[in-house]
This record gives sequence, structure tokens and C-alpha cells, in this order.
Amino acid sequence: MDDASRILAADLHDADVVIESSLRPRTLAEYIGQREVKANLSVLLQAAKGRGEAADHVLLYGPPGLGKTTLATIIARELEVNVRYTSGPEVERPGDLAAVLTSLEERDVLFIDEIHRLNRAVEEILYPAMEDFALDVMIGKGPSARSLRLSLKPFTVVGATTRAGRISSPLRDRFGATYRLDFYEEPELTEIVERSARILGVEVETAAAEAIARRGRGTPRIVNRLLKRTRDHAEVHGNGRVTEGVAIEAMRHLEIDDAGLDSTDRKLLASIIQKFASGPVGVQALAAVLSEEVETIEDVYEPFLLRLGFIDRTPQGRIATDAARSHLAGLGYEIPPPRRAEPEMQPLWDDAGRSSGGADAG
Ligand code: ADE
Repeated sequence: MDDASRILAADLHDADVVIESSLRPRTLAEYIGQREVKANLSVLLQAAKGRGEAADHVLLYGPPGLGKTTLATIIARELEVNVRYTSGPEVERPGDLAAVLTSLEERDVLFIDEIHRLNRAVEEILYPAMEDFALDVMIGKGPSARSLRLSLKPFTVVGATTRAGRISSPLRDRFGATYRLDFYEEPELTEIVERSARILGVEVETAAAEAIARRGRGTPRIVNRLLKRTRDHAEVHGNGRVTEGVAIEAMRHLEIDDAGLDSTDRKLLASIIQKFASGPVGVQALAAVLSEEVETIEDVYEPFLLRLGFIDRTPQGRIATDAARSHLAGLGYEIPPPRRAEPEMQPLWDDAGRSSGGADAG
């Protein structure tokens, strides 16, 4: 399966953008999950609004598909200002950023997705812009070149990144608030599926919503995509009503297993287990075997496998855990013994309760 057709890939497919935007909550009150982030944001936004000032710059980080763009849109809406969307790779030259910055209205929100991918020259324009609402432009070349400082209207940057550690510390220091988005709990995802089903006009049994939520890798974008594929299945093979049976059957067709893993996740685990004797294996070697980018493995696949306890990151590399081995064994995979057996624990006490480990064990 290529990357673009992965149902579980948490990046946006073009066709999903339009429908997804109709499913996105528009206010903090409508937003399900991320309770602490919401509570903190709510105070930040109300305070800024009360003072009539631009809100502090906000950095959102966490795995893809958890709602960073949605939150940026909500922030602007709650502040009753406009939002401009851009991304690190999109802004190639300092002049591109200068053009966006000078077009912002007072207190507007500028959303910069993948902010860790801004190049150095662009990042340096952003520092005085965020700190002093100032734009330093160079005029002229050579010995007669001069720097001119233009003032900008106060604005708020909402930056998004998959990992806070990816952005440079001078940039990180310019955010007044940093929030980490975490995977959603199953009851929250069930609620999201039910809300999306209402918006799409699909009838979904609670047990079906739960079945989808359980396989949604803690990610709203994924459960919404699974809901849409399940709806297709219900329309083609049934009467349009999404029952638990239809949902499970649809996900079986999509090759999504009970833990929510798709074929690429299983291939990743199977590689570590079969080709590297359960590891440790470096992410570079893994990327080469899977023909994937290192960054994709680290940002898209690994976070949820770590959360499930199927892999561990060690200084020597990734290892597949017993839980991963038994998950794949249950699906019929051949499981060779791990290269590095767990070290044998020396019992401190023998059966009679006497110290067995020498003088210093007692
Ligand atoms: N749709 C996608 N993400 C959502 C969320 N966090 N709350 C409600 N609906 C959503």
C-alpha cells in the first residue's frame, strides 16, 4: 500500500480536506478532548480579549491529526480575528514571510504548520516580528546596505510541530504558551465519531462508534476517515445504517486489525522482529527496509506504537516488545526468538526467605 492510500496515515489527503473542515469543531466548547489544553487556552484567550490585545504566541506540538490546525482556527474565532495559514516548507524566502506579516490586521492569527521546517533566514525575520512586532529589512547591497526597521501590527503566531525538540531554542523562547496535544482516549473518540456521524447524517450504533474509536489510533482525523469508509461499506453492502458488524467488516477490508494497526505498522513491527531479531535496530536501517523517510517513521508510525507498548526506544535503537511479538503471533506471523533475551533476574531471596545474593543482598 503506498503512503497516499493509507487509511491510517494521519496526514491530510486532498479529498479529505473539504469534508474534514465540515467536521471540525469551531469553538472551544465544541472541541472534544485535550481538556487541559482547552482550559489553559480558554484563560489565555479570554484574558487577551479582555485587554483588547493580541494573544501571546502559542506553540502546539504533538503527533499529526490531533487537532493543531483546528485549534489555530478556533483561537482566531474565539478572538474574533482573521487567521492566515502557512507552513515551514511553504515559506521559502524571508520576503515571502515579510509579505504575509505586513498583510496581517491588528491581532490576527498567523498559523505556521511544521514550524520546525522554516529555514534559518526566514526564522531570523520571525524573531523580531514575534518579539517586537518589527520587521527588519535590508535595503541596498554591499557597503551602502542599511537595515530599516518597520513596525507591524500586533499579531499572534500559532506554531505547530510534531516535536517541540525539533525547533530551535531562540524560536521556542518566543512563544508565551506551549501546549502538548496527546492521543485521545477511546470515550473521547467515540464522542467524536458520534458527532461527525450527526454532521454527515449517518446513523451509527454506539457499539459501532466504539469499534471505530478503538481502532482509531487515538487520532480524530483517523476515526473520521474510518467513519467515512465504514459509511461507504454500509451503503454498498447494507441499508446505510452503521452497525457494529458493518464497522468491523469494513475495517477488516481495510486491513486494520483489532489494535488499530494497518499493514504498514505491521510491516514495521515484523521487520524489527524478523529481520533484526526484535532489535535493537537504528531508525535509519528500519527506514531503508521499509522505503520510508526517517521522519515519517518517527512522527507518524512510532508515536502510537510506543503508546501501545509495542516498541521501545533505547539508546541502541528500537526494540519490539513482548506485546508486539504476541500481537503479531496472534495474527499468524512467524516470530523468531529475540536476539537479546531479557537479563535473567537474580532472585534476592530463595524460597525459604533466606538471602541468596551474597552479603550485600540482605
Ligand atoms: N473532529 C475532529 N477533532 C475533533 C475534536 N477534537 N472535537 C470534536 N470534533 C472533532
